[in-house]
Amino acid sequence: MTNPELRSPALKQLRWATATAAFQIEGSRTADGRGRSIWDDVVETPGAIKDATTADPAADSYRRADDDVALLQGLDVDSYRFGISWVRVQPDGTGPANRAGLDYYDRLVDALLAAGVRPFPTLYHWDLPVALEERGGWLDRDTATRFADYAGLVGDRLGDRVTDWYTINEPAMTTLQGYGIGTLAPLKQLLFGALPTVHHQLLAHALAARALRARGAQGVGIVNNHTQVRPLRDAAEDHQAAAVYDLLHNRIFADPLLGDGYPDLEALGLPPMPVRDGDLELIGSPQDFYGVNFYNPTTVTAAPDGSPLPFDIVPTPGAPTTGFGPDWPIVPEALTGLLVDLKRRYAERMPPVHITENGASFPEPDAADRVQDDERISYLAGHIGAVAAAIEGGVDVREYTVWSLMDNFEWLEGYTQRFGLVHVDFATGERTPKASYDWYRDLIAASRA
Ligand code: NOJ
Repeated sequence: MTNPELRSPALKQLRWATATAAFQIEGSRTADGRGRSIWDDVVETPGAIKDATTADPAADSYRRADDDVALLQGLDVDSYRFGISWVRVQPDGTGPANRAGLDYYDRLVDALLAAGVRPFPTLYHWDLPVALEERGGWLDRDTATRFADYAGLVGDRLGDRVTDWYTINEPAMTTLQGYGIGTLAPLKQLLFGALPTVHHQLLAHALAARALRARGAQGVGIVNNHTQVRPLRDAAEDHQAAAVYDLLHNRIFADPLLGDGYPDLEALGLPPMPVRDGDLELIGSPQDFYGVNFYNPTTVTAAPDGSPLPFDIVPTPGAPTTGFGPDWPIVPEALTGLLVDLKRRYAERMPPVHITENGASFPEPDAADRVQDDERISYLAGHIGAVAAAIEGGVDVREYTVWSLMDNFEWLEGYTQRFGLVHVDFATGERTPKASYDWYRDLIAASRA
């Protein structure tokens, strides 16, 4: 471990983790009564996925969970953030639990506990039951109630062993990309018509948290992907564009969760949220911890007159990039800035932070030889150093999670973007740790020494 920032005593307070998501790793899409999610529809839409793959078998984790647990044990992580598939538990999003679907997670939880790894499930990572999407999906308030029922079923089965839960992953992506511009499921292009999905996801989180706490949960939190928003030029119109983007990507989620209610949408000519009496109290009740996924900052400039949105997202000047090219600049200090800004804005209302995802994809050989992924090591080292700096700056960060334990199905990109500490041969399911796996294992051990 050569980077001096990784010797910061601040890192001693972190628990270390890796993350995956159900649809991205499990495969076995029709096994044991699993229903259909909106991502099953997308992967079966000709031309939708870059490499025409279907997320089956993906990393084949439905059949290889023991291999995954062995990899986690090898890293000696504190926690494993994994996804639970709603359609394995409730094939149509309503009604009694499908016992066979829950059995898989039951066994996984037992295996993790036996390996000394804390199971840290995420209840929703983008795979809404199709049956609920047909009734409006996240545009429909009833989906929030359905989600709380589902959370209760999972809590009934796993709550005797699982103490901590993440509810919803990256609601901003579901709103902006899923319903806003159509680059994630359900591929809707409603622009600002997508905004009610913000409120219904936050409500779903709050109702699920209540259901889980009633079943003994100690900690429940949501996972927001926040970004540091930067104006391209020091000009009034770019500052205004940055403020609008910051509001839509960050504040529209963080403000109500942290007790401030929604930002003033009407001032921007946007429709108000479909809030009912009591909703904001529920959503704004204290969070046990606050999940932050961080990948990159976002640079914006004012859009030309007549554009459908008032901002354009542009490459970040001078920044190196990941496998996604200019869309994913590498700027570790933006993570420090983001965390310090959150603490400054929300002050004592800011709960302890969990970095619930951080990582990068780079072009890598599709071969089972050990991958020497120095770029990933450097990305992770830079961002862990940025977390240390935030802690030293007064932000209470408690957990750091690498995305991802292993290569997996990267949504519309298929298998073309590899984020893993472990290489996966998608033809055979074989797992081969990369250099970054050894590096992370050694970092974890050193931080405890
Ligand atoms: C965020 C998402 O939660 C995850 O599903 C995705 O694979 C990573 N970002 C990388 O894009």
